[in-house]
Amino acid sequence: MFPYTRAIFLSPLLATASDFIATLDPSLTFSLPLNFQQNASSSFLATNTSSPHETQQLAKAANHGAIAFSQEFIDLFPANASLQLVAEKKQPFAAEIGAWDCHRDQVWLTGPTINGTSHLEMLDLNSSVVSQPKTSIPVPNPNGGFYSDGIVYVASDGDYNIPPAIYSVNTTTLETKIVVNSYFGLRLNGPNDIAVVSKGGNKYLFFTDDPLSALYNNGQLPTLPDAVWRFDFNAQSLLPVIDRADISVANGIRANREGTKLYVTDTPDPLTTGVNGTASSAIYVFDLDVDAQPSNRKLFGFAERGISDGIHIDDAGRVWTGEADGIFVRSPQGRILGFVNAQAILSEEEMVQGYMLENFALAGNKLVVFAVDKIWVVELAKSVVAC
Ligand SMILES: *[C@@H]1O[C@H](CO)[C@@H](O)[C@H](O)[C@H]1NC(C)=O
Ligand SMILES: *[C@@H]1O[C@H](CO)[C@@H](O)[C@H](O)[C@H]1NC(C)=O
Ligand SMILES: *[C@@H]1O[C@H](CO)[C@@H](O)[C@H](O)[C@H]1NC(C)=O
Ligand SMILES: *[C@@H]1O[C@H](CO)[C@@H](O)[C@H](O)[C@H]1NC(C)=O
Ligand SMILES: *[C@@H]1O[C@H](CO)[C@@H](O)[C@H](O)[C@H]1NC(C)=O
Ligand SMILES: *[C@@H]1O[C@H](CO)[C@@H](O)[C@H](O)[C@H]1NC(C)=O
Ligand SMILES: *[C@@H]1O[C@H](CO)[C@@H](O)[C@H](O)[C@H]1NC(C)=O
Repeated sequence: MFPYTRAIFLSPLLATASDFIATLDPSLTFSLPLNFQQNASSSFLATNTSSPHETQQLAKAANHGAIAFSQEFIDLFPANASLQLVAEKKQPFAAEIGAWDCHRDQVWLTGPTINGTSHLEMLDLNSSVVSQPKTSIPVPNPNGGFYSDGIVYVASDGDYNIPPAIYSVNTTTLETKIVVNSYFGLRLNGPNDIAVVSKGGNKYLFFTDDPLSALYNNGQLPTLPDAVWRFDFNAQSLLPVIDRADISVANGIRANREGTKLYVTDTPDPLTTGVNGTASSAIYVFDLDVDAQPSNRKLFGFAERGISDGIHIDDAGRVWTGEADGIFVRSPQGRILGFVNAQAILSEEEMVQGYMLENFALAGNKLVVFAVDKIWVVELAKSVVAC
């Protein structure tokens, strides 16, 4: 006997766009038939319930490239949407950065950042060729990055000898310079991600700094508090703008196109992880005032599974994040509109090995997905980020 049954109503508004997308009633995300069983280390789509109908709906959705909870998400994809494999290597090479140089239609990326294995890579979207840019000075253990006006800014974890730093790379000449590597003689801990904001004729470079260099890349022990920092190009001044009282281990960072909102993701501290830890896998949003000073921290969401690592904001203010179950798209108000399904991209074996969709790029009308040893492209119905 089923202790509880219920009809599932698929809203008639949610017309399925294609075989690529499965549509699920959003109520499945907050109300399930009794005796449902699932945990945080396995996909939402593998949730078992006492009702075969709901269980099968979820299981069938797992075979699709994307899961929609809203018409807005369906409308992001054309009727013939598909995952196209554009690059593959025997070694891990595609995990982080995801900076789109719109002038050259190239995407900058790097491999997994643990144990000194990351190198700058560049994908030419026209030819699908991946190459390693020959920067004029080495950029050891790159992690995050951001493209702005002919420059790719790269956050580097450094190593024991070369301090963690933010580099600028001229995309024409590959001339590479250190922008920031210290605060009054103290090393950074391990810059993770970057957001450049242009405002009132000035430019500000925000970056998150956390203990990853020492944890993963043989860096020296941190001497600064983990923080979000802001470099002011006009004033030539580096300031901490968010500290550990607001975010424990700041990770991904992006501003909206208007430069009025700053999104920062938190990471449960690897040393204090679990329910008793101080951090949560949260996405926070701050207001940015006319001087690009963040204030008014608000909780925007939690990662559905895992952490929200890579984060990108499209021109409509939708927030895209790389999480354990896939690439999630939230409305500017935080509602989960749908997600690109990690299970359609990574095999079970790869997931067991710890492969994740950490980061990705929004490149005009393309979503470029980093799947560790492969890069996939999904063409979108229209451009979501202008040049
Ligand atoms: C989580 O659930 C899956 C099945 O859905 C199971 O294989 C796995 O052992 C569970 N993990 C934990 C930590 O309970
Ligand atoms: C799913 O749940 C039903 C009833 O709650 C149970 O009979 C069945 O064994 C479960 N299936 C799995 C794979 O755990
Ligand atoms: C989808 O259709 C459009 C227009 O017909 C075409 O340009 C595009 O290449 C197709 N995309 C795929 C992935 O087949
Ligand atoms: C990194 O290196 C350490 C020490 O050699 C090793 O224990 C650890 O498993 C490695 N981690 C990964 C993700 O390869
Ligand atoms: C794109 O690639 C094609 C051949 O693959 C080439 O003919 C064309 O010039 C390229 N376009 C750009 C803008 O680089
Ligand atoms: C990149 O280098 C070229 C050649 O020196 C220079 O003309 C261009 O202004 C540089 N770009 C930026 C954004 O500084
Ligand atoms: C949380 O802390 C309490 C008290 O120290 C401890 O009993 C419990 O096992 C901890 N829980 C986890 C999941 O670490």
